[in-house]
Amino acid sequence: MSFDLVAPHYRWLETIAFGNALQRARTCWIDTIARPKRTLILGEGDGRFLCELVRAYPKIDVDCIDASQAMLQLARARLRRMHPESFSRVHFIREDILQWSPQRSYDLLVTHFILDCFSGRELQAIIAKLASAAEPGAVWLIADFTIPRKRFARAHARLWLRMMYAFFRAAAGIAAKELVDPAPYLDGHGFIRDSENLSRARMLRSDVYVQLRRNHDALSANFVSAGRRKSWYTLAQSWDCPPRSFTEETPA
Ligand SMILES: C[S@@+](CC[C@H](N)C(=O)[O-])C[C@H]1O[C@@H](n2cnc3c(N)ncnc32)[C@H](O)[C@@H]1O
Repeated sequence: MSFDLVAPHYRWLETIAFGNALQRARTCWIDTIARPKRTLILGEGDGRFLCELVRAYPKIDVDCIDASQAMLQLARARLRRMHPESFSRVHFIREDILQWSPQRSYDLLVTHFILDCFSGRELQAIIAKLASAAEPGAVWLIADFTIPRKRFARAHARLWLRMMYAFFRAAAGIAAKELVDPAPYLDGHGFIRDSENLSRARMLRSDVYVQLRRNHDALSANFVSAGRRKSWYTLAQSWDCPPRSFTEETPA
């Protein structure tokens, strides 16, 4: 599997297919989490989420793991251009998550639009690996596709997913053929969904998982609410991520 060929085209393809919906899903919860100290971003891609994260939390340390050299180069260049002040705190690591194991612990884990690249067995192993690097009470942000329950929305999502899997299997060589729900694996490692947001006819979801501490106090301890925090119960009814302005990019 390699996203090297896809990397230069990733953003415009995304924009044609989904407009700004994926970036809204990626950044949906950034401003609501407690200030992270050390973050692991798995499969960052071209750096758009990374730049928003360091814009919100300029002092954090970030490890960015990605198997694609081309994606890492894009992310590095974007960060240097947009947030040179944070550049020294971000480590770009070219590794395959199926071979690599974290050496440090993190209070924020991020896996946006990458878990859908893996089969159930791979997903189980990856989640176990990342969970073992989570500090007690860690937050895990996941934006990804999902299959809604209602008939029309379900058919619509399935059609999109069929096209996307065909494309990424051919262009990037991903092994997965269908979407696997990571929730049971996360649950098995003590991560419970604290908040969720559904968008784009409910085929995109943006979730905040929190690892329960032994005394089960994570929910109250790990979030700053600042008026935007909602329980997962209320968010289950919501439709779209709140509007968010992104940093203007200066031309490369
Ligand atoms: C579909 S792209 C998603 C990129 C970005 N996170 C986003 O939100 O669009 C998947 C990313 O995960 C990386 N990736 C795929 N398989 C990987 C693996 N086994 N280990 C590390 N990174 C991987 C790819 O290189 C690519 O950058």
